[in-house]
Amino acid sequence: MFKKTSNYNQGREPELLVGLDLGTSKVAVVVAERETEGDEAQIIGVGQAPSNGIRKGLIVNLEQAVRSVRQAVSDAQNMVGQDIRGVTVAFGAGEVTSIRSKGMVALGRSPRAVGQLDIERVIDAAQATVVVPMNQSILHTIPVEYTLDGNVGIDDPLGMNAMRLDIDVQSIIVPTATIQNVLNCVQRAGLEVNSLVLKPLVSALGVLSPEDALAGAVVIDLGGGTTSVAVFADGRPKHLALLPIGGDHITNDLATVLKLPLKKAEEIKRTISLNKDFEEEETLDFEHHGREYRILKSELHDIVCSRLDELCNELIRPEIKNAKVTLLPGGVLLTGGVAKTEGLEDFFLEKLSLPARSVLPIDSNRMPPGRNTQEYAAAAGIIKYILDRERDPFRYLDNPSVIKTDRSKSLPKTEPIFVQDRQQGKSKDDSHGGVIDTVKNALKDLF
Ligand SMILES: Nc1ncnc2c1ncn2[C@@H]1O[C@H](COP(=O)(O)OP(=O)(O)OP(=O)(O)O)[C@@H](O)[C@H]1O
Ligand SMILES: [Mg+2]
Repeated sequence: MFKKTSNYNQGREPELLVGLDLGTSKVAVVVAERETEGDEAQIIGVGQAPSNGIRKGLIVNLEQAVRSVRQAVSDAQNMVGQDIRGVTVAFGAGEVTSIRSKGMVALGRSPRAVGQLDIERVIDAAQATVVVPMNQSILHTIPVEYTLDGNVGIDDPLGMNAMRLDIDVQSIIVPTATIQNVLNCVQRAGLEVNSLVLKPLVSALGVLSPEDALAGAVVIDLGGGTTSVAVFADGRPKHLALLPIGGDHITNDLATVLKLPLKKAEEIKRTISLNKDFEEEETLDFEHHGREYRILKSELHDIVCSRLDELCNELIRPEIKNAKVTLLPGGVLLTGGVAKTEGLEDFFLEKLSLPARSVLPIDSNRMPPGRNTQEYAAAAGIIKYILDRERDPFRYLDNPSVIKTDRSKSLPKTEPIFVQDRQQGKSKDDSHGGVIDTVKNALKDLF
């Protein structure tokens, strides 16, 4: 079912698109393949490895994290029967700032068609007003809305006639050191970083249908150490946030309050249903390592609910408000491992007053069984991110100087243990000076 080798390209090497998701619980690698650039890509394999050295989405032990990346990549390579060299990496940061800014350019006294240069100029104008704090870097610049002659909600202004072009952009800013640690980790694992992407964006791309993205919807990826929030409307991300709370906090709460070993707490957590009302005296009785335990089921339920309650009310709800999107008919799409919790949809419906559903990656039917679940939404979304950027270079602009700067400073690479016959090709970003240069180069390739 999942081919080990591909032979349909008659001699030519198929192109591999690879996404690497640095999760707190697991590192996942999604591999997609296509005949030539511009074609649709098919997912052909998903590798994974338990994540060590990553906590709350952040690298806390470089060597352990490098080992996890190598293991996950090796697993993916074994599945697809091909070497992996370049990857697009999804990662989390302890501090994520999303700043909105506006830009405007005059097109002339009489209407004329908007060209690529005009779009570049208006993005430049909006970026010029963003003040980036010390030791932080812009990771993404995302056009949120175009306006032509006062008409808001223009999806793509290219080629349309007007006298004035306005833009509203969202700049995603993260600590520079976080980016450098991610680059060091992935490069030391023997891989080349094609680009970096923040987790909430790819989690959303992994599960959102075009209809939901257009109508307005919130994607919440409840992972092991973080919760990603992405609010989409008019087909574009209006707000992205990353919260430092995840399923592992629920496990820790259970272990601490009930004095349980962590493994047992994790096992029990996965059996809890939030829908059930328990009788006062209903208990869960078990023996673990020679010790007898008797726990009130209502207490288990309360511990889990109070953590989720805090997450919803104090952290998620303000982020949805920040997006300033009035209508969200697509509701809430829940993904990530915690979204498997029974009764979570009703819980979110009650807390956020929005219809909620637990969703698999859109491409789940193309992913290997057992690796097509909620945990793999972000990894699958990386492939969508790569393809979306290729189709529309103005959709998500990243900052290649971030990768470039770090390359000169990065720690020496250790020898790759699984990639053979590596050729150290010239980096794609070597000639790039900034965001607009990326766009120019991408457009050069397209036209
Ligand atoms: N059936 C289940 N019920 C409840 N929780 C679950 C279930 N299965 C997995 N989880 C929880 O999901 C979390 C792992 O999810 P996931 O793999 O999406 O995280 P991650 O992507 O590695 O981490 P992050 O995105 O936060 O960096 C763990 O806390 C795990 O306990
Ligand atoms: Mg995750």
